[in-house]
Amino acid sequence: MKKRDYQITVGNTGATIACRSDQTILQAAMGADIDYPFACASGNCGMCVSQLTSGKVSMLPRADSALSPEQAASGKTLACRAQPRSDLVVSWLGRGGR
Ligand code: FES
Repeated sequence: MKKRDYQITVGNTGATIACRSDQTILQAAMGADIDYPFACASGNCGMCVSQLTSGKVSMLPRADSALSPEQAASGKTLACRAQPRSDLVVSWLGRGGR
């Protein structure tokens, strides 16, 4: 897969950061010193659940308990598992969405 840089806008902070297609949203956010909520970073806890407002992602393997198929169908994603496939806008839902 060819690596690409996409632009990710984090709705909670308004920051726009670069994310490679082989990075997760969480990795890019941490690299940009954004205090994104997470715990396991491996798709098991659901702490990093986020709303994808626009854009496409590709998901790494995850537990259904962290993100149910229904949540995924309604545009929710896990920042620690989602790799960008377009520019996107995402907001974390942890900490009451703030
Ligand atoms: S940090 Fe645990 S599912 Fe993403």
